Amino acid sequence: MSKAVRLRVFRGTGNDPTTFRYDTFDVPAEEGMVVLNAIHYVQSRLDSSLTARWNCKAGRCGSCAVEINGTPHLMCKTSLGMYDGEVTVEPMKAFPLIRDLVTDTTASRDTAGAIPPFTPRSVSKRPWLFYQGDVERSRELRKCIECFLCQDACHAIREHAADYIGPRWVAKAASFDMHPMDGSNRSKFLREEGGLEYCNVTKCCQEVCPEHIAITDDAIIPEKERVVDEHYDPLVWIYRKLKKRR
Ligand code: SF4
Ligand code: F3S
Ligand code: FES
Repeated sequence: MSKAVRLRVFRGTGNDPTTFRYDTFDVPAEEGMVVLNAIHYVQSRLDSSLTARWNCKAGRCGSCAVEINGTPHLMCKTSLGMYDGEVTVEPMKAFPLIRDLVTDTTASRDTAGAIPPFTPRSVSKRPWLFYQGDVERSRELRKCIECFLCQDACHAIREHAADYIGPRWVAKAASFDMHPMDGSNRSKFLREEGGLEYCNVTKCCQEVCPEHIAITDDAIIPEKERVVDEHYDPLVWIYRKLKKRR
């Protein structure tokens, strides 16, 4: 037998606060339903003007990212059964609002172009040979579906949006840096342009990642250590000075 779930859904257009409001909808909830099913029920039976973004319904495309009861989630992977009482669905607050549950992640996506790309180091012998373990480190970071839930969870982005590229892009830089055949170095970029110093390792990004990528442990902390080693280690600093004089 189904029971009704009350959805409280944010509504509004662009940056016009006069349109902002919350609408409530009672949706019959069957076992196994996810929040996206409830949103589709509202669109098809109760209010066709409700705007939401989705594509795969399988946790693969990253497009249904929202906040549910204040926490970043994918609507298609979040069971309604997790919640007692009213369920509040809102757009991600770290991005400009387009309409209702849809936000604009374009500016963040554009950041990707600033990251120094994968640059194969010159090796005379082909094929390239490297250990499986080295491949796994980089591969874990490349599981990202670009949902931007980690960016939404990050307080450093909310406070320093113009200065910090955020966990998604630190993970991307790290995926290149950790590739065994990469010959570039992104620590200067992360320190000077990426604003990595603004991250204070709260791990909120890691906790919300639907791909269970250990963003903080396996990308951010190693990159921070690399920045410290290369730019603040006194021995490395003296070595560089001497090298320049030669
Ligand atoms: Fe989403 Fe995880 Fe990728 Fe962040 S790292 S964008 S949370 S999949
Ligand atoms: Fe933000 Fe994750 Fe650092 S939440 S502060 S990028 S550990
Ligand atoms: Fe693709 Fe949810 S609809 S991740």
